[in-house]
Amino acid sequence: PGPRWEAAADVVVLGSGAAGLSAAVRLRERGLRVLVVTKGAIEDGNTRWAQGGIAAVLDGVPGVAGAPGDGRDSVAAHAEDTETAGAGLCDPEAVAEIVAGGAEAVARLRRFGAVFDRSEHGPGLARTREGGHSALRVIHAGGDATGAEVQRALVAAAADDVPVLERHVAVDAVRTPAGRVAGVTVLDDRGRVGIVHAPALLLATGGLGQLYGATSNPELATGDGVALALRAGAPVADLEFVQFHPTVLYASGARGRRPLVTEAVRGEGAVLVDATGARVMAGVHPLADLAPRDVVSAAVIRHLAAAPGGVDDHVFLDATGIDGFAARFPTVLAACAATGIDPATEPIPVAPAAHFACGGVVAGTDGRTPVAGLYAVGEVARTGLHGANRLASNSLLEGLVVGRRAADSVAADLASCRPVRSGDGAAAGTGAWEDASSFESAPRDDVQRVMSRYAAIGRDADGLAVAGSVLDLATARRTCESGPHAAGWTRERVEDAALTLVARALVAAASARTESRGCHVRTDFPDRDDVSWRRSRTIRLGPSGQ
Ligand code: SIN
Repeated sequence: PGPRWEAAADVVVLGSGAAGLSAAVRLRERGLRVLVVTKGAIEDGNTRWAQGGIAAVLDGVPGVAGAPGDGRDSVAAHAEDTETAGAGLCDPEAVAEIVAGGAEAVARLRRFGAVFDRSEHGPGLARTREGGHSALRVIHAGGDATGAEVQRALVAAAADDVPVLERHVAVDAVRTPAGRVAGVTVLDDRGRVGIVHAPALLLATGGLGQLYGATSNPELATGDGVALALRAGAPVADLEFVQFHPTVLYASGARGRRPLVTEAVRGEGAVLVDATGARVMAGVHPLADLAPRDVVSAAVIRHLAAAPGGVDDHVFLDATGIDGFAARFPTVLAACAATGIDPATEPIPVAPAAHFACGGVVAGTDGRTPVAGLYAVGEVARTGLHGANRLASNSLLEGLVVGRRAADSVAADLASCRPVRSGDGAAAGTGAWEDASSFESAPRDDVQRVMSRYAAIGRDADGLAVAGSVLDLATARRTCESGPHAAGWTRERVEDAALTLVARALVAAASARTESRGCHVRTDFPDRDDVSWRRSRTIRLGPSGQ
């Protein structure tokens, strides 16, 4: 059987967060027929949950109305902080290009109507500090609701002009016999698989936090874009570097998405303490509580493991000294209130949780991947900006800058190459509309359990081998239970298949890297090895799909 419905566009954008909408709006400006396909409602992605802000150097930049120049920050300093946080694995050219795009990205958002908090101490925008930043350079909106404001402005900019298929799930890329992308198969909101023919497919699907039992990411962050790219023959890199945010609100027994307690709270003076009131970060790093995120998360895990009896599973963030907490951090306040905590008078219980994929689909700062017609932007992409550990608030920056640039790449590529006509590519790809069992998958709960136990902070060879075996078993059990020609596609099936494939790739990457660096902490190889490992390792799927 063929697809149940068909459509065509010049370019399909998968995902509707900062990166996807930044690209989509630009694609329309360039006169291309763009179609956005998104799994939830348009505003449902990871972007809206971002709290802290956007890292961007605005000092003395003409065209950014009101930005004060305190003369203390520079693009070079931002680049240096990014590379220091990235623990030797950033691509300096990518860093320089993306960081230099910050002021223009902020100006563009303001043209779209985004409103950022203004400084109480003078003209211009308020700026705060987060871990690893040597200057006040993180702008924010609504106190700690920056992502929501960015998303609101981009949705408004896209309104009327950019068609969006909400609650539609991308299944697989369609390729020509030569391997060029020619479209994408999509599960619609009525459960029917169709095909959108397009010579360009832009992945902006976000992250993979749902690989783990505790994460700051929403339910839809299931690594779909990485899985789709792997199946399309694209290389991925740096998957072993999953950043755990040190301060996600802790609640006993809670699973799934947990509210973030933004790093900006530490930027305003809060400190991490244990149950006895002892400082967690004392003596660990010169920047103490504002050390880069990988350092803080690893320190929390070590501190917990060293607790008498090794029984503690959370620490506390003492923000009681911050004046005006309620006005500055309304989102955190509401999340705390929902669990009966008052940050003005008591420390907030927190623990590390999976937050951000530093690696992903290998792509340039122009969004191009090595597969013709396939582009990747935002968290799904590995541009070389983040290296082994992303600097705080560089993710919205990357999505906005690279999203726009990728749109220009698509426009240039489509202008210079013969467009793929509708139907040209339908014979290639996996024929995914026919048989959901062509993608192996394990249940999400099983994936989360095994990844949290064996592939979080503090991994070793034995545990990673166990993780691989358990994933094999869980996959085989599901195939056995549902039969080789199981029923068709569902969103759950697409997501479980993505989680399973990405979990396998991540476990392989983490096993191969026999050192500790950035977010990748190996208990059996605790030291950084710059002789053998100051490089990224690329993974592609073999011909058998493994
Ligand atoms: C935060 O507000 O702490 C998160 C911001 C980020 O992930 O960069």
